[in-house]
Amino acid sequence: MAEPILSVQGLTRRFGAFTAVSELSFEIEPGEIFGFLGPNGAGKSSTIRMLCGVLAPSAGQARALGRDLFTEADQVRARMGYMSQKSSLLTDLTVAENLRFFGGLYGLEGSRLSGEVEFRLREMQVWEERDLMVSALSTGERQRVALASATLHRPEILFLDEPTSGVDPLRRRMFWEAMDELVATGMSILVTTHNLAEADQCDRLAFILAGKLMAYGRPGALKEALGRQVVELRSDQFRELQSEARRLSGILAAELQGRAVRISLPAEVDPAPVLARLRNAGFAFEALPSELPSLEDLFVDLVQRSRAAA
Ligand SMILES: Nc1ncnc2c1ncn2[C@@H]1O[C@H](COP(=O)(O)OP(=O)(O)OP(=O)(O)O)[C@@H](O)[C@H]1O
Ligand SMILES: [Mg+2]
Repeated sequence: MAEPILSVQGLTRRFGAFTAVSELSFEIEPGEIFGFLGPNGAGKSSTIRMLCGVLAPSAGQARALGRDLFTEADQVRARMGYMSQKSSLLTDLTVAENLRFFGGLYGLEGSRLSGEVEFRLREMQVWEERDLMVSALSTGERQRVALASATLHRPEILFLDEPTSGVDPLRRRMFWEAMDELVATGMSILVTTHNLAEADQCDRLAFILAGKLMAYGRPGALKEALGRQVVELRSDQFRELQSEARRLSGILAAELQGRAVRISLPAEVDPAPVLARLRNAGFAFEALPSELPSLEDLFVDLVQRSRAAA
C-alpha cells in the first residue's frame, strides 16, 4: 500500500477542562474520499481546524505529504486546501473578485491567476455567475464557489467541512460529482457530513463521538462488522410494534424510522420465527427482505451504546 497522504496519531485538543478531541488516530490514503462523521459537537471541525493550522493541538502528531504537519507547516500548508464550515467568502464582492482575492493569498498572480480562476469556476459550473455578488447566490452556488476558491492553488489534500449542508439533493449530487472529478486528478479529500447517503459514497469513514474515534473503515466493512441484519416492518401500529419487539428476546434493537420499525437480529439468525412470534402477539405488518444495517443503523447504535456506557 502507498504511504498515507495524511497520518494522524493521538491528536487531542482540550478547551480548559473539556476535551473536544481525544487521542484521534487515522490515516488517509492518496486519492481517497475520507468521510468524517459524528453528531453535533463530536469534534469534527476542531480536528480539521488543527490539521489546517487554525487551531493549535494540545497533544498528538500529524504527518502530511511526507512532512510533519505541526513543525514543518510552512512546507505543507501551501499543498493543502480548506473549506471551512462557515463560508469564508466575502459576500460584498463578486464571485470572480473573491477568487482573485483568495488566489492572491495563495501567491497566484497575472495570467496564471486568471487562468486558474476561469478553470475552477467553469469546473464548478459557476462561470456564468462570475460577476454576481456572492450575497446574491443560492446556497448551492455559494458552496461551489467556495470549493472553487479552496482548490485554486491545486492542493493535494482538501479538507471540506460540511460543504453540502443546506444544499438541495440535485446540487448536492453536482457537488459530489465535482469532488469525484477532483479526486480523479489525484487529490485526496477529507469531508464531513451529516448526510449518511453521502457518507456511503466515501471510500472510508471515521465515526467520531465525544472526540473519540468509535469506528473506522470502508462503509461496507463497517456494516458487516456489526454482525447484524435488519428487517424493516411496516405497520399502522408501529409504536406498539416497537415496544413489543423491544420486549422479545433475540431482537437486538428495534428503532423507528418514519412509520416503520427496523429490528436488528444477529446476522446468522433466521428472521422467520421472530416475525412469527410478533404476528402471534397480534401485530399485522409487512416485513421487507432482511438487509445489511445501514450507516444510519450504525450511527444510532454507536450513539446509544455510548449513552448506555455513560
Ligand atoms: N474555541 C472553543 N472553546 C471552547 N469549546 C470549543 C471551542 N471550539 C469548539 N469547542 C467545543 O468542542 C466541541 C467540538 O466542537 P466541534 O465544532 O469540533 O464539533 P463538530 O463535530 O464539528 O460539530 P458540528 O457537527 O455541530 O459541526 C463542542 O462541544 C464545542 O462546543
Ligand atoms: Mg463542525
